[in-house]
Amino acid sequence: MHVLVIGAGGREHALCWGVARSPLASRLSCAPGNGGIAQLAECVDLAMDDFDGIIAYCRAEAVDFVIVGPEGPLVAGLVDRLEAANILAFGPSARAAILEGSKVFTKNLCKRHNIPTAAFERFSDLAKAREYIKDQGAPIVVKADGLAAGKGAIVCETTEEALAAAAEILGGQFGSAGDEIVVEQFMVGEEASFFALCDGRNALPLATAQDHKAVGDGDVGPNTGGMGAYSPAPVMTDEMCQKTMERIILPTMRAMEQDDRPFKGVLYAGLMITDRGPQLIEYNVRFGDPECQVLLARWQSDPLAALLAAAKGQLAGYEVSWSEQAAITVVMAARGYPGDYARGTEIKGIAAAEAIAGVSVLHAGTKLVDGRLLATGGRVLGVTAQGADVKSAQARAYQGVDAIDWPEGFYRHDIGWRAIERGEEQNKG
Ligand code: AMP
Ligand code: GLY
Repeated sequence: MHVLVIGAGGREHALCWGVARSPLASRLSCAPGNGGIAQLAECVDLAMDDFDGIIAYCRAEAVDFVIVGPEGPLVAGLVDRLEAANILAFGPSARAAILEGSKVFTKNLCKRHNIPTAAFERFSDLAKAREYIKDQGAPIVVKADGLAAGKGAIVCETTEEALAAAAEILGGQFGSAGDEIVVEQFMVGEEASFFALCDGRNALPLATAQDHKAVGDGDVGPNTGGMGAYSPAPVMTDEMCQKTMERIILPTMRAMEQDDRPFKGVLYAGLMITDRGPQLIEYNVRFGDPECQVLLARWQSDPLAALLAAAKGQLAGYEVSWSEQAAITVVMAARGYPGDYARGTEIKGIAAAEAIAGVSVLHAGTKLVDGRLLATGGRVLGVTAQGADVKSAQARAYQGVDAIDWPEGFYRHDIGWRAIERGEEQNKG
C-alpha cells in the first residue's frame, strides 16, 4: 500500500522509520518531510495546512493510508476531510482532537466522569480569575485553554506570578487560545507519558516514556518541545499502567463515545504520578516528540499494521510487542533555541554516528541541499539508541552525539538521569 505521513519533525521521521520496515508498505511519502525523511520516503512539497493539496495528492498518487503526525492539522480537521474523501487516515477527528485543543473541555470531561486530575476553575473574566488566585494562593498553575505550542501552561511559585500570567494570557499573549484560562491546583509527583492506541471504542496500552522539557542540564531554564526522552519510564510499573488504563484512559474513551466524539488515533496522557496514584495533567491527541522516537525504537511488531487496525476500528484483541531494551533520544538543537537561532548551518558526521551499533539519527529540522545537510529548525536531530537499560542506551546515544560534527548545535548532557538514578538506588537497596 501507499502510505503518506503528514509532518516534518523527529516524530514523523520516527513514524516513517516504523512504516518503512513494514512489509505492508510498498510506497512511502511524507508531506512536507525533512532531510532525514528524504532518505526513506518521497518528500512532497505540501504544507500541513493545505488540506486541498493533500487530498489532491492522495487521489493523484493513489494513497491508501494517511498518518497525521502533529496536532495542528488534527485539531483543524484533516482526518475529517480525508474520511469525507474516502481516504483511510490515522488520527482523531476534530471533534475528538478537542481533548488536546481545549483544556476546558478536557477538565470538564474529567470532572463529569471522576477522572483524577488537579482541581480547577475556568475563567474568561480577569477580575474573577484574580479573586480565585488570591483565594487559593501559590503554588498554582495558570493555563491557556487552547493550543499554545506547549508554552501555554505556567507553573507559578507566587500569587503575583499567577496574577501576572492570568493577565497576560487573558490579555492576548496566545491570541484566541487564551480567551479562556484554566487555573488549577499544583500537583506534586513525578511526570510520565503514557500512550494508548485507540480505535473509537477500544484502547490498547502502548509503552511509557519520560521527556525532558527544560532546555538546560538539571532540568533548568525555559521549557522547550522536549530535549530528550527515554522509554520505558521506570515510575510506570505494571500496577501504575493498569491504574492509568482503568481510571483515566478507559473512562475517557467511554465518555468520548457517549458524547459522539469517538476517539481514534493515539491518546497521549501526560501524567503526574502522585502518592494517590496517576493524575491527568493533560491529553495530547498524537504521539509525543521526542517520545515517538523512543517508542518506535522499542516497537517490535509491525507498527503500520497496528495503526491500520486502529484506523479501521479493529483493535479488540490486538497485541503489540515491545523490545525489553530501553531506548533513549538525545535532541541536538540550534544554539539559542528555544529563543532565536541561526538557520542554514551545515551538519556532518551522521553516517559515523549511525555506524555505532544500536544508534539511529532521526531528523527534525534539517534539509538536504545539493548533498549537504543543513539545519533549518530549533530542534534539529534526535540521536536515538537502545541498550540493556537506560544507562547503556544513554552511553551509546552520547557516543552518537560525539560523532556528529555540528559546531552550531547544543544538547543536554543528562538525558535519562532520573531513570539512571532510580536504577542505581534499586541496585544499592
Ligand atoms: P501542560 O501544557 O498542561 O502539559 O503543562 C506543561 C507542564 O507544566 C507539565 O509538563 C508539568 O510539568 C507542568 N504542570 C502542568 N500542570 C501542572 C499541575 N497541575 N501541577 C504541577 N505541574 C503542572
Ligand atoms: N514532548 C512533549 C510533546 O510532544 O508534547
